[in-house]
Amino acid sequence: MKSIFKTIMFGAAAILAASCSYGTSETDKKVEELLSRMTLREKIGQMNQLSGGAELAEQASKGEVGSILNCVDPVAINQVQKAAVEQSRLGIPIIVSRDVIHGFRTMFPIPLGQAATFDPAVVEKGARVSAVEASAAGVRWTFSPMLDIARDPRWGRVAEGSGEDPYLDSQMGVAMVRGYQGSNLSDPTSIAACIKHFVGYGAAEGGRDYNSTMISERSLRNTYLPAFKEAADAGAATLMTSFNEIDGVPSTGNKWLLKDLLRDEWGWKGMVVTDWSSASEMIAHGFSRDTEHATEQAVNAGVDMDMMSYGFINHLEQLVKDGKVSESEIDRAVRNILKLKFDLGLFDNPYVDENASAAVDYAPEHLAAARQCAVESAILLQNKGHVLPLDKAKTILVTGPLADAPYEQMGTWSFDGQSEHTVTPLAALREEYNVIWEPGLEYSRDKDKSSFGKVRSAAAKADAVVVFVGEEAILSGEAHSLSNLNLQGAQSELIAEAAKAGKPTVVVVIAGRPLTIEQDLDECDALLYCFHPGTMGGPAIADIIKGKVSPSGKLPMTMLRDAGQAPFYYNHNNTGRPNDGTEVLLEDIPVGAGQTSLGCRSYYLDSGYGPLFPFGYGLSYTSFEYGVPVLEQSSLDKNGTIKVSVELSNTGKATATEVAQLYIQDCVGSVVRPVKELKRFERVELAPGESKTVRFELPVSELEFWNIDMEYVVESGDFRLWIAGDSASGTPVSFSVI
Ligand code: GLC
Repeated sequence: MKSIFKTIMFGAAAILAASCSYGTSETDKKVEELLSRMTLREKIGQMNQLSGGAELAEQASKGEVGSILNCVDPVAINQVQKAAVEQSRLGIPIIVSRDVIHGFRTMFPIPLGQAATFDPAVVEKGARVSAVEASAAGVRWTFSPMLDIARDPRWGRVAEGSGEDPYLDSQMGVAMVRGYQGSNLSDPTSIAACIKHFVGYGAAEGGRDYNSTMISERSLRNTYLPAFKEAADAGAATLMTSFNEIDGVPSTGNKWLLKDLLRDEWGWKGMVVTDWSSASEMIAHGFSRDTEHATEQAVNAGVDMDMMSYGFINHLEQLVKDGKVSESEIDRAVRNILKLKFDLGLFDNPYVDENASAAVDYAPEHLAAARQCAVESAILLQNKGHVLPLDKAKTILVTGPLADAPYEQMGTWSFDGQSEHTVTPLAALREEYNVIWEPGLEYSRDKDKSSFGKVRSAAAKADAVVVFVGEEAILSGEAHSLSNLNLQGAQSELIAEAAKAGKPTVVVVIAGRPLTIEQDLDECDALLYCFHPGTMGGPAIADIIKGKVSPSGKLPMTMLRDAGQAPFYYNHNNTGRPNDGTEVLLEDIPVGAGQTSLGCRSYYLDSGYGPLFPFGYGLSYTSFEYGVPVLEQSSLDKNGTIKVSVELSNTGKATATEVAQLYIQDCVGSVVRPVKELKRFERVELAPGESKTVRFELPVSELEFWNIDMEYVVESGDFRLWIAGDSASGTPVSFSVI
């Protein structure tokens, strides 16, 4: 009796104490009450995340596992959960996590393709569908959205992000957080988002994954952090530290990043998990002596949960006893973990209905959402002679290794997508045309040209030729960097072979990154670019080829002429010697040319200056015309709002959607500023001959940046503004901030 009374009094005291020192919400009180009853060992158990399923039940029953990842079998999940809830002393449920990056069963386009839609609503819908399907299997935490700014397509993980622009990245990241988490985390269809990889991972030198990054604090704050801040403010429940080091400090041990900035400056109250073994990898970095030292550094830097380095579970108890890690740090971490579990409703509903998935996986409305996203993600880069749409062709040759590749079409991070549900372009085109099918190559790296003769003779019988090339899924994603971005294998030769018949030749690229395709453009009439479009990529591409819908996608990353140009991005600084078109190229250099005769400008002798296609570029089946933007005011104070409009007209023959993009340039700053910055965009559908006044409002406060004094301010001065269909077009207008 005495011990129960003591427990009640102790618990009450803890609640009282909690209400004084930590949050006063009901959840905070529950967290404090539970924390007060936990042993140090039990607290540390919550900080331990392991990959596995039913085999982890034993450790869960001892309270040694706070979360599991990579188990999507609801029966096994319930087994581990039962061990945690019904056998461990305190019955704390585990969180089940998974990389649900662009779909769970129904696969949406890879995130880079979703960014190409410039449509946050369709991206939010995709995340919502992913959450419904994943939570039905028992997954309640996803390691998405990836918010890493990527300026180098050699990096395989450009596939998982939203490209090179902070504003587009922010819009997509917030949309995904909202889609995953819904209106209330405790809703059983909600899954906790995880904004990653914090931070600067995409700046890996050479585009080589995991490589060092050298990013100044100002560049971090002006380029790499904004999307994280927006997503954190939007309520992202968790955050993942990145593998890379920034100027010698690995993110998993970076106290400035994880405490001073994330907690103190931003006031973010979510839960921080490491990347897979990124804590113990600080040994390889040369930042930690051993796993115990890495654990001490990670926890003291602000990490809450350890993914698969086993350091926390094996060393934290001793570190606390040795006084190297205070128990208050442990309490901080466990509070964040317990709060997430209460917010997810796991204490009230820890188990998953083992039959729930059948009702939601690949539901018709999910497939329809994936198809719409795939349609909007397709980018038309070339359409000579308006050969697309193929609305008059009866018989077409379909060739190429990506035409009927259901697994490859889903792209990277498609663990749980089932390729038998994928509808390929070949299958979809067969519904629309009389199709002659000649693969030509078996897979994207295939160099065997022995069946090219069949392709050539088949092309002669067809009204048009459609060649599907690109990348197998494995050629992009984590640890899959490339130094050469040309089409692999004999794909370029296949295009040239198919084109020899002289029929309208359409190339469809299905890849995980922007490839260097300049030489292929010359061989074809039209080129449609699809970043691995997912389960419904086939019908989406067929809808576009048939002309049922016009393509509307826009490049979320600059497309290079040559991998040697990387990194290249539209929002670059101007340099003191920007290219001005006077550059002399390799073939034009006179023999014996004098040292300074070629133009002292920032360019390449061989590939010149500009990219193949700029950020924001994409054609449609019609033509759009922009008027000159009209500013309501040409001089504004810092509390003002820029109100600008532009007349947008459909001057062609087809109904289509244009993504109108608003860019600004801060002409002179206390530090140099990018030549352009995307600040708004809007999808506008217009019928042939229709015009619309597109209006944007942009608070002057959104011109803030981190200046020479590391203050986040708007500086007075002159600005220019464009509204156009891509980052390289448009007529600028000027305004000033006083
Ligand atoms: C991987 C990735 C990370 C992923 C995690 C769990 O190494 O870097 O993005 O969420 O491990 O699979």
